[in-house]
Amino acid sequence: MIFNRSKSMPDDVPATLDLDRIPKHVAMIMDGNGRWAKKRGMPRIAGHQRGMEVVKTVAKAAAEVGVEVLTLYAFSTENWKRPEDEVGFLMKLPGRFFDTFIPELKANNIRVEIIGDITGVPTDTQRVVLDAVAQTADNTGMVLNFALNYGSRAEIVTGVQEIATAVAQGELAVDDITENTVSQHLMTRQLGALADPDLLIRTGGEERLSNFLLWQSAYAEFVFTDVLWPDLTADIFFDNLITYQNRDRRFGGLVENKSNQK
Ligand code: FPP
Repeated sequence: MIFNRSKSMPDDVPATLDLDRIPKHVAMIMDGNGRWAKKRGMPRIAGHQRGMEVVKTVAKAAAEVGVEVLTLYAFSTENWKRPEDEVGFLMKLPGRFFDTFIPELKANNIRVEIIGDITGVPTDTQRVVLDAVAQTADNTGMVLNFALNYGSRAEIVTGVQEIATAVAQGELAVDDITENTVSQHLMTRQLGALADPDLLIRTGGEERLSNFLLWQSAYAEFVFTDVLWPDLTADIFFDNLITYQNRDRRFGGLVENKSNQK
């Protein structure tokens, strides 16, 4: 059954996936669209189009097993360096996605959130994205959090500027600046206690963070897979969750931390 948040095992979920130890926040770097298309003699944008369909598959699979936040790196601040036609296509993708997927998101209680500098994307894209956020604002299930025109270093710089301003204006003492202060000045603050990913998955074979959630990933588990994003399936996603469940999260301590253990 799709989107069943109960602990009963849906038919399509592997028995080895423990529904009591699902990572609350999963972040994903969706890499490999261009190579997927090239392998098929297709233009790169065909890979992005196929990648958009996979976003639907993964969002449904994540919600089905009880992930609470799914953050997807849809467009980075560095992606503007790509050819104009590719950037143009990527900016149209949110519109295509929400045109066809909003009813399912609403029906299944999924809330859309955005991190990134939304003011830097074309007005049409801003409008569809903010509309999706508004249309799903009352949903209480999984948060589908798109990182759009997002860059982690820029996010940290903005946060530092805000904190420095508060200090300069006498609203905050330097000694009162804590890790929590920094977290509260990052774009992920809207996710509250779920701001930091438990698991970060990157598809496409590269093993780097590419300016994604640098502060927030301090204690995330990383799973790198060679699978190209357009080839990702719900089964492969569930396998990645099982890999996470087999890790021993210690958060710098010596004893096994129980957050992903029974
Ligand atoms: C990286 O692959 C992928 C992107 C820059 C875009 C990711 C976007 C999607 C998967 C669709 C997003 C959907 C919505 C709804 C916004 P790449 O092009 O760098 O692949 P390559 O490394 O093989 O060239």
